[in-house]
Amino acid sequence: MRKLILGGIAAVFMLAPAAALADDPIVIKFSHVVTNDTPKGKGALKFKELAEKYTNGKVKVEVYPNSSLYKDKEEIEALQLGSVQMLAPSTAKFAPLGVKEFEALDLPWLFKDDETYAQAMKGEVGKWLFKKLEAKGITGLGYWDNGFHMMSASRPILKPSDLEGLKIRISGSKVADQYFRILGSIPQIMAFSEVYQALQTGVVDGCENTASNYYTQKFFEVQKDITVSYHAHLQYAVIVNSKFWGGLPPDIRGQLEKAMNEATDYTNSIARKENEDALAEIKKSGKTTLHYLTDDQRKAWQIAMQPTYKWAKGRVGQEVLDVVAKELHVEMN
Ligand code: LMR
Repeated sequence: MRKLILGGIAAVFMLAPAAALADDPIVIKFSHVVTNDTPKGKGALKFKELAEKYTNGKVKVEVYPNSSLYKDKEEIEALQLGSVQMLAPSTAKFAPLGVKEFEALDLPWLFKDDETYAQAMKGEVGKWLFKKLEAKGITGLGYWDNGFHMMSASRPILKPSDLEGLKIRISGSKVADQYFRILGSIPQIMAFSEVYQALQTGVVDGCENTASNYYTQKFFEVQKDITVSYHAHLQYAVIVNSKFWGGLPPDIRGQLEKAMNEATDYTNSIARKENEDALAEIKKSGKTTLHYLTDDQRKAWQIAMQPTYKWAKGRVGQEVLDVVAKELHVEMN
């Protein structure tokens, strides 16, 4: 009898912490590398607001912006290890996840405008790429836009040959590495958080990025010349660890999906204006010179970078190029 009572007491004590835990919110750590004041930064905060609202506080989203928790490479490892639950890296950084196919999106002059890009990601291209992630234990939840890249250096870049001999920071994609090499420059992968200092001290001479990133990271203060080339596109995929996502109670997962869908629409609806505003601020600062390509100059760049397409087959594979070509109604060679 005594044994039974003692056993009962022990069982109550053992249950107690579990009951308390059940009331604790599920924490989603969302790490990224840009400031809060960018399309992705605002999107992450919108997701936090909606996720906490729709789950009635059962989920708490902790957003860590501006590489405050992890830098580019580290955050991918952290997701795989479960130290963070959500990321939104640029798709140029997906090779370490084992999905080089995403780099097809970095092909130069691929998307003719914002609408073409948005349709492709909502359509087959976006779906096909997310399927590739599944086998790696990663679930893709949405694509977030950040517009087209500009290019900058310590001198004006108007003709392809202007890039010759310059050290250029790239974010990770071998496709970008290739088009910079073709133009005679020396590309170098570097974490986003290190770019400002590298430009300032001359470790690299130039870089490519979108206006919102040039503005919020102050790259424009340490680059004498920026060409508004829009030669390639920057997009993010919001990703979670599949084990974590699949392990959530179904009602909570549904509420989070709703929050993510709305945060995705919101982010994609502000991206263009955020970049236009950032470009206007850069111009107003007077700290750099903006250059715009003439039609002939743009054509010269396109011709010079064209061999990247043939080269890319060996890197990303024919299959993804076919999917992209079909969706965009273009030839990929
Ligand atoms: C970069 O590294 O240049 C970008 O991917 C940063 C970002 O997340 O916009």
